This record gives sequence, structure tokens and C-alpha cells, in this order.
Amino acid sequence: MEIERPSYLKAKRRTKEEVKVITDSYIMNNKLSKIGLGKTYFIVTYGCQANVRDSETIAAILEDMSFKPIDSMEKADLILLNTCAIRENAHNKVFGMLGRIKHLRETNPNIITAIGGCMTQEVSVVDELEKKEKWVDVVFGTHNIQNLPKLISDAIDKKEQIVEVYSREGEIIENLPVKRSNKYKAFVNIMYGCDKFCTYCIVPYTRGKQRSRRVEDIMKEVNELINSGYKEVTLVGQNVNAYGKDLNESIDFGSLLELVAKTNIERVRFVTSHPWDFSDKMIDVIAKYDNVMPYIHLPLQSGSNKILKLMGRRYTKDSYLELFNNIKSKVKNASITTDIIVGFPGETEEDFEETLDVVRKCKYDGAYTFIYSPRENTPAASMKDDTPLKVKEERLSRLNEEVNKYYKENNEKLLGKTVPVLIEGDSDKNKNLCAGYTDTMKLVNVKCPKSCIGKIINVKITDAKTWSLDGEIDE
Ligand code: SAH
Ligand code: SF4
Ligand code: F3S
Repeated sequence: MEIERPSYLKAKRRTKEEVKVITDSYIMNNKLSKIGLGKTYFIVTYGCQANVRDSETIAAILEDMSFKPIDSMEKADLILLNTCAIRENAHNKVFGMLGRIKHLRETNPNIITAIGGCMTQEVSVVDELEKKEKWVDVVFGTHNIQNLPKLISDAIDKKEQIVEVYSREGEIIENLPVKRSNKYKAFVNIMYGCDKFCTYCIVPYTRGKQRSRRVEDIMKEVNELINSGYKEVTLVGQNVNAYGKDLNESIDFGSLLELVAKTNIERVRFVTSHPWDFSDKMIDVIAKYDNVMPYIHLPLQSGSNKILKLMGRRYTKDSYLELFNNIKSKVKNASITTDIIVGFPGETEEDFEETLDVVRKCKYDGAYTFIYSPRENTPAASMKDDTPLKVKEERLSRLNEEVNKYYKENNEKLLGKTVPVLIEGDSDKNKNLCAGYTDTMKLVNVKCPKSCIGKIINVKITDAKTWSLDGEIDE
């Protein structure tokens, strides 16, 4: 069998070739559909919404092969890791997990192990798997999910490691099955890949070029979800506001969002929006439709113009603040969260102070904060970085202190107020309570009858903590 390994040279290439929409590449035949008979599977998913949604497709593919889900890795006949490459610690976690699986194989040598996702798009990871972890049966890339049945089948027949990782710009594949992990809310991909090439980021290499799905395919998926009783859809892409720019049709994200808002879905969300390409039209649509949730994730990365430029983010501190204020003034009760990287190569104390300044001005509803992690083959990895790790860690903790203060303050503003919550199930912290998210994406533990599960109910907020709220049904 031909082995195809990743290549950074190919992963970086961007041609003007039209993106192909493929509807017949997923093949399920009699032999493949029986491979999993009497066997169970367990998927471990790392990373972002794109991976969560991919795992739902992988689950459906495995079930087409007759594998049945099982709730513990220890009992599974097939273990599949869907990995993330965004930071180095993801790498350590996955290799740690492989160690655990290797141990399980000592008592059950028949376990089938497959690894896919963004990490296997990294040349060094595939090298390591081939050299040191030859026992891993299948290594597949983000562009190879549709071929999983054949890859698993080959690994079983040939009793050897099968590697298939394309480093391509990518296609759009429309005939893949899906097994949703939640009954009330769902992710809908509206685009794949990314062309922004922020200098620190590996995603454009692991996911290929920006490819927008056709409007009719997106709307078909949304309508199917509505017909099966879904209350909420989240439109997913690395840069949803660039949606449509690669299509021949004249459609942009504002228009797509409006089309989805005009269906009778009760809640629409979207992730992630890059501040670049965030149009006034988008803000107008968010403000106009009650079913478009007033929640926006608007990654800042840094508040320093010098660092933003080195990152290739194409906005400045001032233009970011202008956009932020524009959203806040037009969208009622808008909740805005962000992503911030500290310790980017060349970040000085002054640069970091600029980031803190933006945090103090924006008083975010939440922020994911990270220490810069050099990624193989990205431009930033070869930039001079002379800030000691200790200094970076200290900046991260100062930043977190600031961010957490606003988390709590924003939550406290909701005390005594009544807010809509989509109740998703039992609360993790107390099984007598239910839990769900507000329109503004805040987690609430709610005292209400279990019959509320799957419904959007009004909840009166009774307590505000840093990471969550408590409340009771407001009848
Ligand atoms: N497409 C989204 C981000 C996806 S990655 C956007 O552009 O906004 C999620 C977050 O991980 C990024 O926003 C960034 O803050 C962080 N991140 C990405 N690469 C990183 C790296 N090399 N080191 C540390 N954090 C990183
Ligand atoms: Fe990465 Fe930038 Fe693309 Fe986001 S926009 S996925 S940070 S390259
Ligand atoms: Fe990670 Fe890949 Fe998503 S690197 S963040 S899983 S696109």
C-alpha cells in the first residue's frame, strides 16, 4: 500500500484552483460494514470545535462499520485519538495517552489504535509515530477522514501501521455521515481551513486553504437539525467573517447569518470571528435578529501594535477597540470573550502593558490566555525570542488575575436578573440541579424540574461566581 506522509511544502501552497465539492468519496461496502461487528470504540477528542465536529463524523463512520460506542477507553476494542497541534502541551498530552493505550495493549493485544487530527499533519509527529510507535495501527490526517474504513481494514489485514496524511489545500466533502453528541445544540461547519497565516499559528498548515461550503449545503444541514428538534446551531469556521470570499457566488457571512436567523431555529451562534473582516453588516444582523445570540468571541492576541504586526494580525490596538465599542453600542447586552497570547517573540514589558490596557478597557466576559508556543515550520518559530519563560509565566498570571476580575464582575451584574437558559442536562456539580448556557454563553447551574431539559427557560440568577452562575426557574 502506498504510504502518504505530510509535507510542509505542500501544506503551505495556495493555488487559485477552484475548490471541488465531492459527494462520492466516502465508500461503505459489505466487507467494510462488518469490520466492527461485536466490537466497541472510544474516541478521545482534543482541540477546537472543528475537531469536535470531525469526531462526530468519525463516530458515525465507525458505527457504519458496526462498531458500537462504549463509555470507557479501558473497555474499548478500537481507540481513536483526534488530536490538536495548536500548542506544544497538546503534543505531550497525546503521547502520554499513547503510553496508556500501549499499556492496555499488554493485556489486550487486539486493541486497534488510530490517531488523526491536526497533530498527524506535523511531519515530526508522523516521523515519531513511524519510528517509535510502530504499534499504532492507523495514522490519518485531517483530509483523510473519509478513507478511515479502508485504512482500518488495511491495518487489520496487513497487520502493519498504515499512514495516510494528505498535505493538500483540501476539498469539501459532502457525503459524510454524522452522529451528533448533543441532542439540543449542534455545530455546523460553514468553512474549512484558513488562509490568514498568522505567524505563530499551525492551523493553515494542518487544515488546508479556506474553503467555504455552499449555502445550500449549510442550509440543508441547518434545516435537518431544526426538523430533528435542535434548539441551537453554532456556525463553525476558523474565520467565519471571511465566509464566501472564496466562492463564486456573491455571499458573505452577514448574509449567511441572516439566512440562518430567518429559519425558525431558536438560537444561532458562530465561532470564531477574526477582527479583520468583521463587517458592519454582520453587526447589524446580530443586533436585528433575536435568535442570533449576543455573544461574540473576538480574539485580541495582543494589545501592542508592534506585536500584532509581527503576528500578522492586520489590525491595530485602536482599530480593535473601535470594533469592540461598535459591537457593544449596537448589540444589546453583547457579551464578548477573547483569546490572548503572552510572551510572543520580542514582547517587552511595555508591549504586555498594552495588552493589559486593552483588557482593562474591554472588561471581557471571558478570555482564554496562553503562553506563546513555537510551532514547527511557522514564521514566528524562527523569530528571536529572548524573554525567559519565568517572565512569560509571570505575565500570564498577572493577565489571568485581571481577566478573572472582569469575569466575576460581569457575572455579578446578572445577580437578581432573569435570563434565558437552554437547559442541556444534569449539572456536573450536583445531579439534583440542571445546567445550561445563557444567551450570552454563561454557564448556569439551575434549580428546575428535569422536564426542563432540552428547553429554553427563564432563569433568575441567585449567585455569581467567577466561572459560573447559580439560578432557579422563574415561573
Ligand atoms: N481562528 C481563530 C483562532 C484559532 S486557535 C482566530 O484567529 O481567532 C485558538 C487560539 O489559540 C488562538 O486565538 C490563539 O490565541 C491561540 N494560539 C494559536 N497558536 C498559538 C501558539 N503558537 N501559541 C500559543 N497560543 C496559540
Ligand atoms: Fe490561526 Fe490566524 Fe487562521 Fe486563526 S486566523 S486559525 S490564529 S492563522
Ligand atoms: Fe487544534 Fe486543529 Fe483546532 S490545531 S485548535 S484542532 S484546527
